[in-house]
Amino acid sequence: MRDSNGQSRQMEQDISHRVGALGTSPGLASPLNLFDIERMAEGKMTPMAYEYVASGAADELTLRWNRQALDSIKLNPTVLTDVSQIDTRVTLFGQELAYPILIAPTAYHQLMHPEGELATARGAGAANATYVVSSFTTTPMHEVAAVATQPLWFQLYVRDDRALTKALVQEAEDQGCRVLCVTVDTPVPGIRNRQEKAGFALPDGVRTPHMPGFLSETKPFTWQDIDWLQSFTRLPIMLKGIINPGDAEKAIQAGVSGIIVSNHGGRNLDTVPATIEALPRVAERVNGRIPILMDGGIRRGTDVLKALALGAQAVLVGKPVCFGLACGGAEGVANVMNILRNELELAMILTGRSTIASVDRSVIWT
Ligand SMILES: Cc1cc2nc3c(=O)[nH]c(=O)nc-3n(C[C@H](O)[C@H](O)[C@H](O)COP(=O)(O)O)c2cc1C
Repeated sequence: MRDSNGQSRQMEQDISHRVGALGTSPGLASPLNLFDIERMAEGKMTPMAYEYVASGAADELTLRWNRQALDSIKLNPTVLTDVSQIDTRVTLFGQELAYPILIAPTAYHQLMHPEGELATARGAGAANATYVVSSFTTTPMHEVAAVATQPLWFQLYVRDDRALTKALVQEAEDQGCRVLCVTVDTPVPGIRNRQEKAGFALPDGVRTPHMPGFLSETKPFTWQDIDWLQSFTRLPIMLKGIINPGDAEKAIQAGVSGIIVSNHGGRNLDTVPATIEALPRVAERVNGRIPILMDGGIRRGTDVLKALALGAQAVLVGKPVCFGLACGGAEGVANVMNILRNELELAMILTGRSTIASVDRSVIWT
């Protein structure tokens, strides 16, 4: 009998069907959520690589707040609405995303898996996700683009050497990247005590073909450079690393296409607020003029829902993708994205929201 219970059971089956088993050794239970995947990754990674991914800046207060602030928000469901069809699609810069979760740019994927960024791109493809490729890839961008079956975006660090920066933007355009995410929260890297204690170093043979050395430049990178970037790129520019509403206003005045509310996953300036706390203030100032994305601590479908409700058009995930990559290469990356997507769909069903547009502030318990 296909009553409404039968339908929801069917939905559960469809959903669990899409979450494939991670390439785990026999006997290891399949991870059910992103926290399981982190625990599994810890057992598989070198301590140095695990600490590199998991750690935050200084005393890791912001790292913890990103999670605590999401946990402290309660949901306010609506019952008896028709949620038989869930539509998670969103459109950003003319690109339709199957669901509003992207892979955040993270560096050095060969530290996590021998196939590095190639596995990440394949996993993104398998999960219908957009992958924002870091400037600090350990694989040349053209090789990543060659295996990608879903759109790529590119994350740019502006270096001292402006000619190198310009060439990198041109390479990203040539490789078909759709959006340029310019990271603006890292004029210098933060205090990374835990990473240092773990003896962070790139293993022999692991190189960063697009970024000579580490980030330690001193030449100022300012709003004038945003004008300069816009003078030659045809890609939409998003500024990644905005938490101050005043900076969001300046970004709009500078003519950028969007912003990413981010504190770099708590890795740069410790004691800045959680991104979910900054998001509503930024959204209020932006007032719909440009798209806002958000990252930092997103681990559950309900976290995605909360970010959408508080003003983000989409979110990105960083550390969980690194851990998925470490656990199971491309399959592990796809698993992370599929779990989160399924959790988002369930959160929408259970809060009575059938489309992303219908996820508004009223879904938050105040
Ligand atoms: C291992 C690691 C490397 C990162 N590398 C970069 C990078 O190269 N460029 C960048 O803009 N952000 C980088 N980030 C920050 C992420 O893009 C993102 O802002 C952050 O991870 C989101 O928080 P979450 O890890 O809690 O999801 C990195 C984050 C991690 C964990």
